[in-house]
Amino acid sequence: MIKAIKGTNDILPEEMLNWNFLTETVKEQMKFFNYKEIRTPIFEHTALFSRGIGEGTDIVSKEMYSFTDRSENNVTLKPEMTASVVRAFIEHSLGKKANLNKLFYISPMFRQERPQAGRLRQFHQFGVEAIGNHNPSLDAEVIQVAYEILTNIGLKEIEVKINSLGLPEERESFTYKLKEFLIDKKDGLSEDSKNRLENNVLRIIDSKDRGDQQLIKNAPSILDFLGSESLEHFEKVKDLLTIAKIPFSVEPKLVRGLDYYTHTTFEITSSKVGSQSALCGGGRYNLLIEQLGGASTPAVGFAAGIERILLACKAEEAFTPNEDELDIYIVCLDKELENKVFEFASFFRKNNFRIEFDHSSKSVKAQMREANRLNAKYVLFVGGEEYEKGQAQFKNMTTSEQEFVDLDKLDDIVSLISKKN
Ligand code: HAM
Repeated sequence: MIKAIKGTNDILPEEMLNWNFLTETVKEQMKFFNYKEIRTPIFEHTALFSRGIGEGTDIVSKEMYSFTDRSENNVTLKPEMTASVVRAFIEHSLGKKANLNKLFYISPMFRQERPQAGRLRQFHQFGVEAIGNHNPSLDAEVIQVAYEILTNIGLKEIEVKINSLGLPEERESFTYKLKEFLIDKKDGLSEDSKNRLENNVLRIIDSKDRGDQQLIKNAPSILDFLGSESLEHFEKVKDLLTIAKIPFSVEPKLVRGLDYYTHTTFEITSSKVGSQSALCGGGRYNLLIEQLGGASTPAVGFAAGIERILLACKAEEAFTPNEDELDIYIVCLDKELENKVFEFASFFRKNNFRIEFDHSSKSVKAQMREANRLNAKYVLFVGGEEYEKGQAQFKNMTTSEQEFVDLDKLDDIVSLISKKN
């Protein structure tokens, strides 16, 4: 038997209830914050991601699903959306159509990581990219969108962590000092961090390795390398988060795994989901648009992992979306009346009711079992003596009350149910 590829998940109908609850909350909040949806292709030219995310990052150096297609194009299944959204922003001159483009997305992503709970090879993100403004109020707004969604679905055990990576020259002096600090401790570093000493020093400071963490305990802090402009920006973000009543902590070791960040970075973590605790992450990326061939344009955004959020919801028992239920199950008492049942079902569906009936000539008892299994609110019995009289029995499954309804007045049923709902 051919099974699903390791690190990919089927999302079965019963799980879709939670998925839909989350994505509907996302869409609702995006309306409140005035973000518009954007979709980009599943695959792009590989160069977009290697240039956008950074050659030295884990994503580009070891996790991308890249291949050469039949026309000899080097293409990659998107590992994240920011580079794709920026590409679309430049390609369609969105910057000329509006000063500020506030965009959101919900999309599958692909990274060939080692699968474990909360870490998949095909996973899903929702996120926003706000392109065209450098004001700290937009950094705060983007963090607020993420926070509102996570708290609106009922998560409580979450923490907002923020940091600033400043400007490239400030980061450069910091990485220089960091390298100096680490160079004589090299032998004690993990293999990954030893390699990073050469190609991505910054990432050593958020290494999860215990030995590394011990060594970097007293490492210099990026915040001591920020100039007055960067510090002012960061202070304003903090003030605005306080105004928005969003609890946060400053985490100078939060450097993120993608190279494009300037100024604010942030993550929201859950204490309930084990090692893959980052539910979402993002920050400002004022240089990326220019780097990818557009006009210099400031931007800020975040992305959140849907699977991880749902794991956190489960661990916190954060929400139980209403069970899917049916409005009416139509029981057919008489095989000859199958066409009539079909006709009634069509009528009710056209009137926006959720309807089911039997498609395989089951016994009445089996049909009732099915009505119960599907949580039908009402059952309409079509057939028997009542049918001869132009009527049908209509049963309220919650109260067990039964009444007769005229089959030429189905509108009465519509108004009866509508009233009770
Ligand atoms: P990221 O931190 O790489 O950022 O991913 C964002 C979120 O996606 C993570 O916090 C996590 O919840 C989820 N995620 C990442 N990898 C996996 C995986 N293998 N399995 C399950 N979930 C995963 C970005 O992608 C940036 N584009 C965020 C951003 C937008 N920055 C600015 N704008």
